Amino acid sequence: MKIGFFGAGKMAEGILSAIEDKTSVIMAEKVEARAVELVKKYKVVTTEDVKTVALTAKTIFLAVRPQDVDAVAAEVAPLLTSAQTLVSIVAGKTLAKLRAAFGEKVKLIRVMPNLALRANAGMCAICAAPNAKKADVKLVEKILGGAGETVVLDEKHFDAVTALSGSGPAYFAYMEEAMMEGGVALGLDPKVARLLAEQTMYGTAKFLRESQMALRPFIDGVCTKGGTTAAGMTKLDKPAFKKMVAATLAAAAKRSKELA
Ligand SMILES: NC(=O)c1ccc[n+]([C@@H]2O[C@H](COP(=O)([O-])OP(=O)(O)OC[C@H]3O[C@@H](n4cnc5c(N)ncnc54)[C@H](OP(=O)(O)O)[C@@H]3O)[C@@H](O)[C@H]2O)c1
Repeated sequence: MKIGFFGAGKMAEGILSAIEDKTSVIMAEKVEARAVELVKKYKVVTTEDVKTVALTAKTIFLAVRPQDVDAVAAEVAPLLTSAQTLVSIVAGKTLAKLRAAFGEKVKLIRVMPNLALRANAGMCAICAAPNAKKADVKLVEKILGGAGETVVLDEKHFDAVTALSGSGPAYFAYMEEAMMEGGVALGLDPKVARLLAEQTMYGTAKFLRESQMALRPFIDGVCTKGGTTAAGMTKLDKPAFKKMVAATLAAAAKRSKELA
């Protein structure tokens, strides 16, 4: 079974690093220096020609930027067959648009990943076109599962997924920045403040995932009456904060819809 990539950028590398047998991978990348880097690092086969991948791989990840999709499709659509699966990670490209671009034969799966793929802690939502088989979806779940968590969802949820987990890394990093700046304002060195903020964010997520504890009792548990966290929460726990977060996600979801 050969796994192919159209485009070998940041996200493709995140997926590649989770694939155990890298001898089964072929990647098309037009930036030569980037291809050389990946060959050195992972010993994968690269080519500058997307057609070579279309002619060799059974499961192919479409990992170019949205504006490059049509150019790739123009080259490979006539070559793709019903025995192949095209797995698009391109933000905003719907299954209908992918079908129009890549032809009627190829099996289609759409994935919304996030940047945390690169740390093997990604979040990928997966949806499949009617012609994709259960086994195709299972294979994609297995590959992406090596790079984090996966969830299979109806495509109608993809704008929400894009807003929450797709764009989410930037929002959490922004919160980290705010926590770091708050620490610096209290006299901490910026490097120390960043470590404190980041490890706290990471550790909290890890504990919540491992314990599966409900959020409200967790929050209440940290906020002991008369304590420091409770004093801090008097500033944060306002309806305006949750409204702002909801509006942030709504704006991102609206933009995702517009781009589709
Ligand atoms: N980054 C994220 O957080 C994120 C999250 C969710 C989804 N995505 C999606 O993931 C996709 C990839 O994003 P990325 O951040 O990995 O992009 P990227 O780092 O720019 O990687 C894309 C690579 O594909 C190459 N390429 C473009 N056209 C090609 C062609 N015809 N043949 C061979 N190689 C070609 C590009 O070369 P050039 O630079 O020369 O064009 C570039 O090296 C995007 O569609 C994006 O919407 C990204």
